Amino acid sequence: MTSQPVGSTQLDHFFSASAARMDRWRAMSAEAQTWAAQARSGSRAGRAEVDAALAEVAPLEDFFAYPGARLMKSLTERIAADDALGAARLVARVSGALLSGSYRHENGEAESADSANDTVPDRLPPSLNGGEARRPYFETLFVSSAPSANRAKIAHEIRRLRRAEDAMIYEPVIVGSLEDALIGVILNGKIEAVVIYDGIPVPSQHDVPLLRSFLNTYHQLDTSSVAPREVGLTLARLIKRLRPELDLYLLTDRQVEKLAGDPAAAMIRRVFYEVEELMEIHLNILEGVRERFATPHFDNLKQYASRPIGTFHALPIARGKSIMKSNWIHDMGEFYGLNLFLAETSATSGGLDSMLEPTGNIKLAQEKFARAVGADHVFFVTNGTSTSNKMVYQAVTRPGDIVIADRNCHKSHHYGMVLSGAQPLYVEAFPLTDYSMYGAVPLRTIKRALLDLKAEGRLDRLKMVTLTNCTFDGHVYNTRRVMEECLAIKPDLIFLWDEAWFGFARWSPMLRPRTAMGAAAALEEWRAGPEALGAWQAQAAELGEDLDPTDARLFKRRLVPDPRRMRVRVYETNSVHKSMSCLRQGSIVAVRDEDYNHHVSAFREAVFIHASTSPNAQIIASLDVARRQMELEGYELVMRAIENALRLRRAVAEHPIISRYFKVLGADSMVPAEYRSSGFQDFLTPGSTWVTAAKAMQEDEFFLDPTRITLVCGTAGYDGTAFKNLLASRYNVQLNKTSRNSVLLQSNINNTRSDVALLIKVLLDVSREIEAALSEGGEAERAAFAARVKNLMEDVPSLPNFSRFHDGYRDDPGSVTLEGDMRTAFFAAYEEADCEYIPLMSPKIDERLANGPQLVSANFVIPYPPGFPIMVPGQVIEADAIGFMRKLDVKEIHGYNGTRGLKLIKLSAIAKPPQAPPRNTALKEKPAVERMEA
Ligand SMILES: Cc1ncc(COP(=O)(O)O)c(C=O)c1O
Repeated sequence: MTSQPVGSTQLDHFFSASAARMDRWRAMSAEAQTWAAQARSGSRAGRAEVDAALAEVAPLEDFFAYPGARLMKSLTERIAADDALGAARLVARVSGALLSGSYRHENGEAESADSANDTVPDRLPPSLNGGEARRPYFETLFVSSAPSANRAKIAHEIRRLRRAEDAMIYEPVIVGSLEDALIGVILNGKIEAVVIYDGIPVPSQHDVPLLRSFLNTYHQLDTSSVAPREVGLTLARLIKRLRPELDLYLLTDRQVEKLAGDPAAAMIRRVFYEVEELMEIHLNILEGVRERFATPHFDNLKQYASRPIGTFHALPIARGKSIMKSNWIHDMGEFYGLNLFLAETSATSGGLDSMLEPTGNIKLAQEKFARAVGADHVFFVTNGTSTSNKMVYQAVTRPGDIVIADRNCHKSHHYGMVLSGAQPLYVEAFPLTDYSMYGAVPLRTIKRALLDLKAEGRLDRLKMVTLTNCTFDGHVYNTRRVMEECLAIKPDLIFLWDEAWFGFARWSPMLRPRTAMGAAAALEEWRAGPEALGAWQAQAAELGEDLDPTDARLFKRRLVPDPRRMRVRVYETNSVHKSMSCLRQGSIVAVRDEDYNHHVSAFREAVFIHASTSPNAQIIASLDVARRQMELEGYELVMRAIENALRLRRAVAEHPIISRYFKVLGADSMVPAEYRSSGFQDFLTPGSTWVTAAKAMQEDEFFLDPTRITLVCGTAGYDGTAFKNLLASRYNVQLNKTSRNSVLLQSNINNTRSDVALLIKVLLDVSREIEAALSEGGEAERAAFAARVKNLMEDVPSLPNFSRFHDGYRDDPGSVTLEGDMRTAFFAAYEEADCEYIPLMSPKIDERLANGPQLVSANFVIPYPPGFPIMVPGQVIEADAIGFMRKLDVKEIHGYNGTRGLKLIKLSAIAKPPQAPPRNTALKEKPAVERMEA
């Protein structure tokens, strides 16, 4: 993706806004220092470069409170007066304050004008200084049509509203148009609230072609044709799409009472009559941010920890006395600090809420989390998404229900079905055989499964579709499209989107529409809109009201659900601990299911079944705090994580030595062209901008999460595991997962540019070592290296598809769809006498593959990597699975007994398959689509 190069004044290169701004200030600082040094030695050179650097910085600064108009004016004046030393000092001060964030704590800094020694002037009332310095700081955007000459006065008036008792402090940023307001909320992550004066103009004073094209194409907004009366609400709607967490206020001279009750204004937190008390607005702004800041459970836990409490409970480490005083384990107390133990508690201690049946602060914390992620309900889970997934299966599926599931989904899904008795109908992701990994499941495959079930008269048993979004390697589904098309076939289908890795995406306007909750909201909006019914009626005229599953046209068009019948029933599980500031195992189930009332008691049971009766209060508190952070700074943090990822991608691709041995796979390598209808190739492709990325995000079947970076190391002669170990043991660099010839790096909200620099240095070190070894080792070494690379990159085992369940585990062995009763097979394996073992390498396996009897797996066999089950209980084992396992060079294979071999269910122990009812043999021959395509 084109980042904003230093030297470009284009304002709407948003993807790298925060880093680009800092880069510009750093560049100006360097130029100013050079100019000052020249001036000291009597030269007049250097001024032109500073002028040019200022011209780069200045347009951006309209959208930030600091340094603000007065400091910028002062800087401009110093430069104009040829005051090189003064300018250099001021630039250094501003860029230092921006870098450290100190301007947020130095009251008056933003409004300070020139000062001879560039120290911070002490101008505010004493009550706002001193101990007040650490009040949380944010910025509020005021969108007003007041002439720019009046802005300083308005800002001054707003600052005068501050009171000593305000819990937070904010600085105003004032802009004058709809477009400028949008640029402001995109560029400035410190903005937490927006006050819109009705009647503002639309166009920006700046040249922003990308923004206009984006609004036009993706929000169907022609900025030149918004009616003046509509500008305020239009702006509010657009801001909510970009940053839904912001509090919006509208000041209008229209009938405020009417507007406040208008559903079209639902996204506005308060509507004010324009001449009303400014203080009211000020208090509302603070109250809105305080709402997000408040962490009911964490706040309560802190309070609890500070109380003098004597415990006569089964909590021996609470209060920490037995630890701190111990001769032997006091180091644990010193390491973790006393607060950990002071906050150790139980729901039954009193004063704190119960996670199993919350009625107080945990309930509140869950409600806040639900609001933050756009769900109706959120459940906290303290044993990871492994448990969240099982809870959903437990709550919404019953024995005999069918679930369409990606065969590569996390093992918790497979185990969830063992527990609930739901029968998996596995669907396959497209393979990326060259890198020994799978992509995601094509929509065509999912539709085909649904239509086959329909053709066989079993659609009523289909309860849920489960997919992993995004996948381990970063494939992001077009969640909305998948749900829409599935609902066109079965209107009451439930979706479970496993977003274990993708929780952060909620805070990226780019990625949010592809999250489960983002897509659910879009579906509801579409259904309520004027075009939905017409679109369905047009489809009905073309294809009939009841879709015929053997009609090949169903695959050639985007199916539209009947808006009157479809239900939005979406569940998302999310390992908060994987992408936000949450302690390990903190996870949530987010629910946006309009038929949730069918599952309320089942969900309560699911919590009782799966949650510990002693959940860890610290994990719950960290879920609460993670939500607070993301609602207040998630937008900026996620933008930075994406920037860092793009930086890393670019650095590897552009480095002359590193790029000889390593490469990062782009979207074009990770997503086959047929799933990229927008034509998007990669973030680094010349000409890519955030608008081309937005187009791909909106249209393509799969989109690559930029923060998940597959680095190919086979070309450097390392298999994934060896490379991972090398980085960990020699460089203290930890990375995510591995494949045969690649490793997965992940950038998250915790990474900095220094981390990127470290990784690049490590890759350069390793590359140099390879170069040295190749040049010292001569021809023999080069041949050995080439052979190693060929082996890793070309001799890759093909990935086995799911075969089928043994007929004895199928309700209808003759059916085209391959769902099976995995639960019965799972428990069959408990009877050792009914099982046998055969070593993987034994010729007996080959003999049975060739001549029978069939090999039927007794358990899950899950090699790490790739981490998905090669075999599941009751599955008939075929030659490709054996071939794959024999080629695997990994040490960790869960479910495979290295000493005894594969555990198999004896055929004598499998019940005879039920007698299949008389069937339509035409249907049996081939799955519906193949029949249609034939
Ligand atoms: C797709 C997916 N879902 C669920 C999980 C389980 O999450 P947790 O580690 O929070 O239990 C994982 C773990 O790696 C995963 O990759």
